[in-house]
This record gives sequence, C-alpha cells and structure tokens, in this order.
Amino acid sequence: MADFTVTPWEVKGKVDYDKLIIQFGTQKISQELKDRIKRDVGELHVMLRRDIFFSHRDLDQVLNDYEQGKGFFLYTGRGPSLGFHIGHLVPFIFTKWLQHKFNVNLYIEVTDDEKFLRTQDYTLDQTRSFAYDNILDIIAVGFDPDKTFIFQDTEYIRNMYPLAVKIAKKLTFSQVRATFGLDVSSNLGTIFYPALQIVPTMFEKRRCLIPAGIDQDPYWRLQRDIAESLGYYKAAQIHSKFVMPLNGPEGKMSSSIPESAIYLSDDPKTVKYKVMKYAFSGGQPTVELHRKLGGNPEVDVAFQWLYMFFEEDDKRINEIEEEYRSGKMLTGELKEILIEKLNSFLEEHRRKREEARDLVHTFKYDGKLAKEMWEKIHE
Ligand code: TYM
Repeated sequence: MADFTVTPWEVKGKVDYDKLIIQFGTQKISQELKDRIKRDVGELHVMLRRDIFFSHRDLDQVLNDYEQGKGFFLYTGRGPSLGFHIGHLVPFIFTKWLQHKFNVNLYIEVTDDEKFLRTQDYTLDQTRSFAYDNILDIIAVGFDPDKTFIFQDTEYIRNMYPLAVKIAKKLTFSQVRATFGLDVSSNLGTIFYPALQIVPTMFEKRRCLIPAGIDQDPYWRLQRDIAESLGYYKAAQIHSKFVMPLNGPEGKMSSSIPESAIYLSDDPKTVKYKVMKYAFSGGQPTVELHRKLGGNPEVDVAFQWLYMFFEEDDKRINEIEEEYRSGKMLTGELKEILIEKLNSFLEEHRRKREEARDLVHTFKYDGKLAKEMWEKIHE
C-alpha cells in the first residue's frame, strides 16, 4: 500500500512521483523527449529542465503531429475558488510557454458548476463570481488573445451539451464511481460532471495536449477509454508535480489551508510574515549546528519553491543549493531570497491582473478563437 494519496480532491502524504507514474500508468518524460522538444522549439522551460513537469501520455505522438505539420491543441482548466494560490498558477505558466513556442490554440475551462456541485460551502452565484476573479488571474499569465478561448461551463453549456451527452452515454456509473470514489449518495451533478471536463478534449479533430497537475489524471483515463469510439483522439497529457505546501513537505498547497498557501492577492507584508512563520525549514535548530551540519534542501520549502520556478537561473540555484547544504547560507537568508522573488513576482502579476480587466471580453467572447467557438454548434 502506498503511504500517499492523490485524487482530484485530495493529496495526502509525501508523494513518491516515481511510484505515482506506475500507479497511474503514465510515462516519465525522458531526456530523449526533452532533447526533442528543445530541437523543435529552441529551448526548454525551467519546469521541464527541473522535472516539475515530469510525466506524460502520448507526448511523443503530439511531437510527431507537430513535426509533420498536423498540429495539435492545448486544453487546461480551473475550478474557481476564493483563493487562487501560486500552485494553481504552475500549469498556466507552463501552458503559456507551450502556446507561445508551438503557436497553437488553447482552451481554458472554468468549472463554476464543478465547484458548486462538489462542496456545500458555495452558492452558484459565488462560484460564478469567483470564476470572474480567477479569469483575471489566468489572463494575467499572458496568453495569445487570438488563439485562446476561456469559457465558463454554466455559460458555454449550450455548445458543450451535444458532446457531453455522447460522452455520458459511453460511460457507466460504475466506471465513474470507481474512478472518482463516488457512491450512491453522491449528487447527480457530480456523477455527470466528468463528461463536462472531457468535452474540451474534443473541441478539435486534432490531438489535444493537456498540461495540468497530475491530480486531474483520472478524468483523462476515462477520456482515453472512449475517445476513439466517438471519432476523436485519445488526449495526451503532460503532468506536473505539486507545489509543496508552505508548512511542510507533505500533501499539496491547498486553498482551504491558509497557512499552506501564498495567494496571488497576498501583499508583501503578508508574504514575509507567512514565509518567516510557516515555511517548513530543512535547516538545523541552532546556527552553530547549521554551520556544522548544513541544511537539507530536499525538504526545505523555501528552496523547493525557488527550484520549481522562482529562481530560473540554473547557475544561481546551484550556488544556493551548495551554500545551503554546506551551512554557509542560513535558513533566514534562504527565506529572504524567496520573499524577494515572491514579492516581485506577485507585484508584476497584480499589475497584469489589473490590465486583464479590459481583456475578459476578448478571451471569453470576441477574440478570434472565442468568436469561432461561439459560432460553432456541434453536429
Ligand atoms: P483546480 O482549480 O483544482 O486546479 C487548477 C490547476 O492547478 C493544478 N494544481 C496544482 N499544481 C501544482 N501545485 C499545486 N499545489 C496545485 N494545486 C492545484 C491542478 O492540477 C490544475 O491543473 N477540475 C479542475 C478544473 C479543470 C481542469 C481541466 C484542470 C477543468 N478542466 C483541464 C486541468 C485541465 C480543477 O478543479 O482544477
């Protein structure tokens, strides 16, 4: 029995990503595949260089399609909530890089229905208003307005429904129940919902590549069981690890545990306070011991966050690692480096988020791809 759990709703324990690959039946992103991406687009994103995106299905086929000129499209999403944290941003930052490098269409599903159905905490009006706020954070990442369509399930459902019923007819309750751990007391909406998360994988008759945290994988397993029988490709995926919670190396950063997360709305003082107070440290209990024995970057959250993407410079991150491991750098100094990086990242993000207000309409309704999608009624 594994001593960790990963589902779309819960990540518990210290995740062993090699074991997870075996459990989920995915594949590790090999050096060969990374070299191929680098040949195709000229460079590798920091999250690929450092194995933050570490696992995949059919990425090699996506690259075949790209190299042969057939192309592919991207799809990712967000279940809107009150607190958008930096972990939620990871797949979006990486997706932006993919869109930019491969110059492809991107569909972003905002599941205001899912969030309403899965918790007792929110009204539908609330999840719809979180959707608006979360869309600002998503737009701030910088997607191509002509090639990106952001849609909210409760608004776009008219165009999703014909595909949704075809998908739903192919899936039995027992398949969905086994995949998501539902039972006979689950509400009807949660039973039907997986069909709606699968729909966008069929928005084009090309291969779909989904960048997302690996917690979303159960949906794609169902998709891959049925896609070909409906005349579509099995969706390809590229999976990320989880941003560690601030307060410890187990589980994942979670909106519902405030001390585990840095929210995109946290001001500089709050960031400093949270990192200093909560960030789990791999340092020694006293300065003397730390100088003598050194710190452990593997469990140190400040180091791990810098490694994930806040310090993109490979030379600098190696220096930090060495200095911390040797005891030359103290935990407080390491935390200061993170605080500065986080605050400048968040300041820039919030500036772009303000500008995003004028772009919501473009991404949702009248950008080039958005318009095409609203005009399209599935046959
Ligand atoms: P949601 O809103 O829970 O999460 C949005 C995206 O963020 C990833 N994620 C994380 N990544 C790294 N570290 C973390 N601590 C962390 N927490 C969350 C998730 O894996 C996800 O990629 N059902 C989905 C919404 C959705 C979707 C999709 C997601 C609809 N269609 C297609 C991905 C792809 C949800 O509630 O995501």
